[in-house]
Amino acid sequence: MRLSAKLLKWYDRHRRDLPWRAPPGVRPDPYRVWLSEIMLQQTTVPTVAPYFHTFVARWATVADLAAAELDDVLAAWAGLGYYARARNLHECARAVAAAGGRFPETPSGLQALPGIGPYTAGAIAAIAFDVPVAAVDGNVERVIARLHGIEDPLPGARARVWNLSRELVPEDRPGDFAQALMDLGATVCAPRRPVCDRCPWATECVARRKGIVEDLPRKAPRPDRPLRHATAFWVADADGRVLLRRRPRSGLLGGMTEIPSTPWTDRPWTVVAARGEAPLRARWERVPGVVIHGFTHFRIEFRLLRARLPRRLEGIDAGAFWCPLPELDRQALPTLMRKLARHALEHGHGA
Ligand code: ADE
Repeated sequence: MRLSAKLLKWYDRHRRDLPWRAPPGVRPDPYRVWLSEIMLQQTTVPTVAPYFHTFVARWATVADLAAAELDDVLAAWAGLGYYARARNLHECARAVAAAGGRFPETPSGLQALPGIGPYTAGAIAAIAFDVPVAAVDGNVERVIARLHGIEDPLPGARARVWNLSRELVPEDRPGDFAQALMDLGATVCAPRRPVCDRCPWATECVARRKGIVEDLPRKAPRPDRPLRHATAFWVADADGRVLLRRRPRSGLLGGMTEIPSTPWTDRPWTVVAARGEAPLRARWERVPGVVIHGFTHFRIEFRLLRARLPRRLEGIDAGAFWCPLPELDRQALPTLMRKLARHALEHGHGA
């Protein structure tokens, strides 16, 4: 039996039931396929599931999402990370809605839209429209590298992996084939402790024959992530409100809400230097401890200064605003900012 037929047979028995997945024989909704693929970039299935439910309950169609305010989309995305994805998601919804509400069906048409790269274009074309194309993400890379025993490290071997993947895609049921590969990578051909005796490709797998399954894919060593520094200003006023600020639309965490802070730099901020960057004049006090957060290319260590204002204060820095503490959860606060807020609150710095 061909490799693709073996995998499809396995999929028919072991497919995962996922919120965005159409039942067997049912045509998938391209909107749900696209939304899930954007959410799943850089993120795992368990993390995405609740966000996916929230989004489709609130915005049932691409036209609904296009009509939403960007700030509402960012707030609903808060916690999923990589916020450029949410901005692109909104922009893409607008482009599709403006073109009549239908997604393009080809990888090249899809790739012309914001936020859709080669993997996502392949995944949407295959899953939503049954176009026989490959979709290679990290999981699929691992499966293919092992199947073919590719020992050259990634990312150098990526083009070769794509070519080998294309050769596997069947004309019949390419959408199921794409999803089957994802499921195989997630449940059987896992990064560690793969369960090869449950794999439909066990007899063909070169890495297994050579006893190097867990060594593949090899990866070129990544440089250590540098550590950056900032000091954040936690200000609570007499009415139980905290001071927040909107970040610029472009750049890291673009358009998201933040706790005001110094610029992010290579050296820690002294209290004296940090005070010069504060959003208002106040008596600042250091909150014990630090908050560390990892981004893809660097880590950042935050110190916190707090000030409690004796009375309600209006007329603050441009861009800053007051938020009642119980409404903090409704803000577009990224995970890093939630960590900072939790740290401040755990140290008794509510209002
Ligand atoms: N990972 C990326 N896309 C996926 C999908 N459609 N189903 C399961 N896992 C995925």
